[in-house]
Amino acid sequence: MQNSDPPIRVPFCRPDYGREERDAFEEAIAGGRLEGGGAQTKQCETLLEKNTGAERVLITPSCTAALEMTALALELGPGDEVIMPAFTFVSTANAFALRGAVPVFADIDPLTLNLDVAAARAAITPRTRAIMLVHYAGVGCEMEAFLALCAEHNLVLLEDAAQGIGAAWNGKALGSFGAMAAFSFHHTKNVTCGEGGALLVNAPNFVRPAEFIRDKGTDRADFLRGQVSKYEWRVLGSSYLLSELAAAVLLGQLKREEELTRARLKIWQIYEEHFGRLNSIRTPHIPTAARHNAHIYAIRFANQELRDACAKHMRSLGVIAAPHYVALHLTPAGQKYGRASGELPHTIDAAQTLLRLPLYSAMSADETALVIESLTSFLHSNGLDTDAITPAP
Ligand SMILES: Cc1ncc(COP(=O)(O)O)c(C=O)c1O
Repeated sequence: MQNSDPPIRVPFCRPDYGREERDAFEEAIAGGRLEGGGAQTKQCETLLEKNTGAERVLITPSCTAALEMTALALELGPGDEVIMPAFTFVSTANAFALRGAVPVFADIDPLTLNLDVAAARAAITPRTRAIMLVHYAGVGCEMEAFLALCAEHNLVLLEDAAQGIGAAWNGKALGSFGAMAAFSFHHTKNVTCGEGGALLVNAPNFVRPAEFIRDKGTDRADFLRGQVSKYEWRVLGSSYLLSELAAAVLLGQLKREEELTRARLKIWQIYEEHFGRLNSIRTPHIPTAARHNAHIYAIRFANQELRDACAKHMRSLGVIAAPHYVALHLTPAGQKYGRASGELPHTIDAAQTLLRLPLYSAMSADETALVIESLTSFLHSNGLDTDAITPAP
């Protein structure tokens, strides 16, 4: 079949690899040890510990792997339930379903698209063991309320901070609140090494189990530190170490985290100046306690037809804008392995109406202008916000 789409002029995302990443990569090769756990891995972990305040950070091959590690560390199994949003990536739920535990989906706040505190409270049963938050778009969840809810019901708080690097809630880094948290360094993320992630362990009692789990369930880390004379199988675990090659690229990116976030924030702000006051679309809501990291600029339309037509129109002009999650409780596996707590109307609305605009640190002024033009021309050709004055980019 022939593809009649015009060439892509503005991709959805484009990683920004520079000198630091290349130098670290060469250094890793020259060192001759490319298995995980080497010098580059340790530097990444130390930097992340310093930046987040986490007790211990373990870098992993993906955020998915880090989420699976949380389920293993909690020794969850059949009969256990974990409350989470359904407006999230499959890995958030898969991690627990793999252990035989049940993901219980609760609705989101319609403004932030993060788990709603009252909906989470209503989903608690005697089988609930943990609440897994997702900080959508790097905008923090209501942390004080969730910490209090978990304390009240003796639940473990976990954070899927896949999109949260560099962001904070009331001045405290996302990923540093829960007993454990997970970052993603996938291709689409603010800081990336292609595929990668990190487990942040904040509760000291999970540090040793997490080290065992990452190293195939063994105490090999103790052995490498000279603390035991041989290593052995201690707990259920798997191969969750990131290769030194990827760790090297990650180290370069982590050193540039502030620069990369600053550049993204500039583009995010330009979008906000153009679209923030329009009536025909909803734009991001940032609570005053949140310091976000410009991971996503998502707009929402009145209905799915308009959203899909807009994505098509932008694609016809070479601009890639992307919807996001499919509501997990409506997917075949979500229905088989999970359970919805209520109807989740805000989740369904977000899944149907949300569109993410292209956003990356190295976006040029021309690319930004093209995104703005393509969205504005769609709105105008549909008779929407025709009287809005659009400032020049
Ligand atoms: C909320 C959330 N959790 C987990 C993941 C999985 O991340 P990874 O691809 O690093 O496994 C993603 C990926 O985009 C995500 O958005």
